[in-house]
Amino acid sequence: MALFTLNINGKKQEVDVDPTTPMLWVLRDHLNLVGTKYGCGIAQCGACTIHLDGTATRACMLPVSSVGNQNITTIEGLSENGDHPVQKAWLEVDVPQCGYCQAGQIMTAASLLEKNPNPTDEEIEMAMNGNICRCGTYLRIRKAVKMAANS
Ligand code: FES
Ligand code: FES
Repeated sequence: MALFTLNINGKKQEVDVDPTTPMLWVLRDHLNLVGTKYGCGIAQCGACTIHLDGTATRACMLPVSSVGNQNITTIEGLSENGDHPVQKAWLEVDVPQCGYCQAGQIMTAASLLEKNPNPTDEEIEMAMNGNICRCGTYLRIRKAVKMAANS
């Protein structure tokens, strides 16, 4: 076990965990931030996507010991009141079906638009490509990303 001080959603959080623990489990099991989901555990589905200094990152393959002082943002910290442009577009388009993949989808989309406010269809496709949705909400996801980009 080792003590880590992490910057999560603008707050310092201390956790005492094995250094190899993936951030996904630090968030979910130690800090009760359960919006970040477990899908595959091998960086293949995107359900666990968080931001590391603004960049979309798979939390399931990110050891807590590699995070250091970088800023972690989870779906709980993306906006104060669920009013990030991506979240508003998601509501408007009514994207989710079961909802399981959606936090990861939203975090990936928000990171894309932060870096590239006016992405082309191809750029949206490339950025969102690694986020799997078993319910097949892909068309609504693409529509909502475009709506957020134009807002
Ligand atoms: S749970 Fe991390 S990418 Fe699937
Ligand atoms: S909404 Fe069900 S997995 Fe995406």
